[in-house]
Amino acid sequence: MNVIELIKSDHRKVESLFSEMEKAKDPKKMQKLFDEIYTELTLHAKVEELTIYPTMRNYDETHDMVEEAEEEHTEVKELLEELKSMRPSDSEFMATIEELKDAVQHHVEEEESEILPSVSDSMDEQEMKELAKEFQEAKSKLEKEISASS
Ligand SMILES: [Fe+2]
Ligand SMILES: [Fe+2]
Repeated sequence: MNVIELIKSDHRKVESLFSEMEKAKDPKKMQKLFDEIYTELTLHAKVEELTIYPTMRNYDETHDMVEEAEEEHTEVKELLEELKSMRPSDSEFMATIEELKDAVQHHVEEEESEILPSVSDSMDEQEMKELAKEFQEAKSKLEKEISASS
């Protein structure tokens, strides 16, 4: 998979977790799904911030997109922390999940309609290959750290 496909596949995974969450009724199941959403989004954002975003700063076409994208990551992280301190039985839990879902959806749309097409326009094949490798390596390294700490 190239780096664009790797990123899009993470996006699809999170979307499917959100739709499972919307169907879930059992608080235990909801907590499990939230834990998965938390891990997936934290990991994905961190890996983007370590690999593709810094590389984007090297190209005129993508340089100016990084700041806004990072601000959107910050918004997502704040909502994740807010949800982490809640229980699925709390009255605000699902409303906050919907808020998180909207923020993620907006960011994903921006990445897929503007950011990723500009990345593949500005970078050559070699750079794209290196990015895919860096993305996968950073992800498996951080995955191990996360599972070791929880
Ligand atoms: Fe992304
Ligand atoms: Fe992102």
